[in-house]
Amino acid sequence: MTRQIIIYGGSGGIGGALARRLSARGDRVHLVARDRERLTSLAEEMDAGFTVGDVTDPDLFTRVADEAGDFCDGLVYAVGTINLRSLQRLTEDDFLTEFRVNALGAALRSTANRRLRRACLSANSGDTETRWAVGSSKRCSR
Ligand SMILES: NC(=O)c1ccc[n+]([C@@H]2O[C@H](COP(=O)([O-])OP(=O)(O)OC[C@H]3O[C@@H](n4cnc5c(N)ncnc54)[C@H](OP(=O)(O)O)[C@@H]3O)[C@@H](O)[C@H]2O)c1
Repeated sequence: MTRQIIIYGGSGGIGGALARRLSARGDRVHLVARDRERLTSLAEEMDAGFTVGDVTDPDLFTRVADEAGDFCDGLVYAVGTINLRSLQRLTEDDFLTEFRVNALGAALRSTANRRLRRACLSANSGDTETRWAVGSSKRCSR
């Protein structure tokens, strides 16, 4: 059975590698990130769907649900940033943006998809490949 997997950060190192691997196994993937050019070329490579957007935009999650279709079997949150500036040069806004992107985005995705919670992964939480465990096909709640 073909599964549909939504991958936030699907054009990145971890998200992109996972997308290629799942696609090669026959899964259908839907990629999400900000850079349209990178998304388009990766999506063309594996005949995937994609949504362009920023996880700090609260409307993004509804848009993804609209564009990916009603059903998804798994959701991956592989979005993340590492700010390498020295602590002295980081502003309060920088810290809040990091928190929104790296933590809050993943938490909001997980809680909005209660029935999928066990399938939600954050690349920040460890080895994505070995922690991948998707249950039966379930409807995504918005
Ligand atoms: N690589 C590792 O060895 C490793 C190990 C442990 C943990 N991690 C963590 O895992 C996460 C992913 O790592 P990675 O190496 O795959 O990083 P990456 O190559 O930089 O990929 C990050 C992905 O997230 C997207 N993204 C970034 N900010 C976004 C935003 N505001 N809204 C929507 N999409 C956004 C990027 O695309 P756009 O820029 O186009 O939006 C890209 O697709 C990071 O948090 C990293 O710290 C990585």
